[in-house]
Amino acid sequence: MIHKPSAPTPMKGILLAGGSGTRLYPMTLAASKQLLPVYDKPMVYYPLSTLMLAGIKDIMIISTPLDLPQFKRLLGDGSQFGVNFEYRVQPTPDGIPQAFLIAEDWLQGSPCALALGDNLIFADHLGVSLHKAAARPQGATVFAYQVRDPERYGVVSFDETDRALEIVEKPTNPQSNWAVTGLYFYDNRVLDFAKQVKPSARGELEITDLNRLYLEEGNLQVERLGRGCAWLDAGIPDSLLEASQFVHTIQARQGMLVGSPAEVAFRMGYISADHLKDHAKRMGKTELGRILFDLASAEEKDN
Ligand code: G1P
Repeated sequence: MIHKPSAPTPMKGILLAGGSGTRLYPMTLAASKQLLPVYDKPMVYYPLSTLMLAGIKDIMIISTPLDLPQFKRLLGDGSQFGVNFEYRVQPTPDGIPQAFLIAEDWLQGSPCALALGDNLIFADHLGVSLHKAAARPQGATVFAYQVRDPERYGVVSFDETDRALEIVEKPTNPQSNWAVTGLYFYDNRVLDFAKQVKPSARGELEITDLNRLYLEEGNLQVERLGRGCAWLDAGIPDSLLEASQFVHTIQARQGMLVGSPAEVAFRMGYISADHLKDHAKRMGKTELGRILFDLASAEEKDN
């Protein structure tokens, strides 16, 4: 009998959309932060598009008990985008790595990516970097971006050969300007590592502590996003407005969509042109619907 090497388990994805959004009060008193609009789409569409662009088709959405039904209403079972959605509750906001513990039975030993529901990444050739990260057989990949206010984030510093040296959560004296973005790719040991993380001084499980476990064994790949990329987190009113303005500027100028799961689904071959047209029609007379409809029509003409 010939033993074929077993195919690698496909990567799964988690979209974490929990928290109480206190820094956006009163907007988030009666609405989930990740469902607020970023220009013409709900915020969660942006990180969702990123996961889908990485080739991930099994995605778990985790949110608070109160908000989860709204996510289900918006996103459904995933068939509108040719993918599969699962839903789980995070009863209390005990930190980002808790997502892996919540997803334990669903993960079934798969490698897993995690996207924070308020992070928006826009970059040329992003798909290529994401595919590389998703295909790496061992270790973890994170993305770093230079910011003016690194003390608000997880910060990674590098040695003279550009290898990641240290990673610290919200340091008072940041050793570099490189913030770690809210998009993480892990191999199939992530659950074991997540179980080793202990609550920090602020009483939460920190994603930075999980990443440090990979760093310490020499298995943390840090991809630096260059100046041509944009990383925005929409956690405070200013950054929410900036994110909307950014998306508006690109879409108005280029006529191309940013953060549209339907467009990504179509380009990735998850849905057909007819499927995309139906989706576009459901968007009514919006500009978004028109762009999606034109995209599907143009493809049909080419064939
Ligand atoms: C979290 C992470 C931090 C990361 C940031 C990205 O911060 O803890 O390491 O840089 O997301 O948005 P929080 O949103 O919990 O302040």
